[in-house]
Amino acid sequence: SNMVDGMLGLQQSERELAQILNIDRCFIISGDSDHQDRVLDGMGTILNDTLAKMLPEGNNVIVVMGGNTMAQVAKEFSPELSTKRQLTFVPGRGGMGQSIAMQANTVCSIMAERTHGESQSMYVPEKLSEKSYQPLLEEPSVQLVLQLIEQSNVVIHGIGRADEMAERREVDPKILHLLQKKEAVGEAFGCFYNQQGEIVYRVPRIGLQFERINSIDHVLAVAGGHTKAQAIRSYMKLAPHQTYLVTDEGAANLILKK
Ligand code: G3H
Repeated sequence: SNMVDGMLGLQQSERELAQILNIDRCFIISGDSDHQDRVLDGMGTILNDTLAKMLPEGNNVIVVMGGNTMAQVAKEFSPELSTKRQLTFVPGRGGMGQSIAMQANTVCSIMAERTHGESQSMYVPEKLSEKSYQPLLEEPSVQLVLQLIEQSNVVIHGIGRADEMAERREVDPKILHLLQKKEAVGEAFGCFYNQQGEIVYRVPRIGLQFERINSIDHVLAVAGGHTKAQAIRSYMKLAPHQTYLVTDEGAANLILKK
C-alpha cells in the first residue's frame, strides 16, 4: 500500500541522512514542524521510544538543554522510561532569555514529572559577567549540578539558528557584528558555528561544555523545520559520531536535496 511504501521510503531517507551527516542514526517524522505543531509531538514520541530502547538499566543521569523544541518534546515522555531505571534529569546550562517555559530547568522538571524520575535545578543566569563567574561556580548548589553533569551518560539537546539564538541570548551588538562577519549559521551548547562547522564564537557560561559531549554515551539532538536545515547540517560536522538526530521532513528533505 501507499502507506507502507511511504514508511519504507522514510526509512531509506533516514539511512541516507545518517550517512550524509556522518552520525549513528536519524529519525525523520513526516511533515514540517515550522508549519505544524503536531510534528513536534511525533518527534517527542520517537525520542521517548528511542530512549526506552537504548538506555541501560539502573542509574541514568540525563543532561537536558533548553529551547522550544526541548520544551515541546518533553511533554511526550512517559513513565515506561523509568522501568528498571532511576532517571535524574539535570540542566546543562543556566537561565537565559525571556521565556520561563523554554529554560533547561523547566524542561528537566517536565521530563522528571512525566517519567516519575528526579530532577535538579540550577539557578544561575547563563550570561555571566567575568566578575560573578568564579564565585558562582563555587556555590554548593551549582557544584552539585556540575558534578551530576560529570557523571552523565545521556545528553538531549536542541540546535538553533544563529540569528534566532543571538536574539534570544540578547548578545551585545559587538558580538552580533562578529557573528555576522564570521557568517555563523547555527548554535548548540553555547557555541556558534559557521557553514563548515567551525566554532566562531563561544558564550562564556556555566554548565555542560561542548567538548564533554564527546565522552557521553548517548547524545540525542532534536531539531526540525525547513528553516533549521542549514543549522542542522553544519552542526553535524562537529557533532560526535554517537549522535542520534530526531528531525522532520521539512529539514531532512532540504539536507537530502529532495
Ligand atoms: O541551542 C539551540 C536551541 O536550544 C534551539 O532552540 O528549539 O527553541 O529552536 P529552539
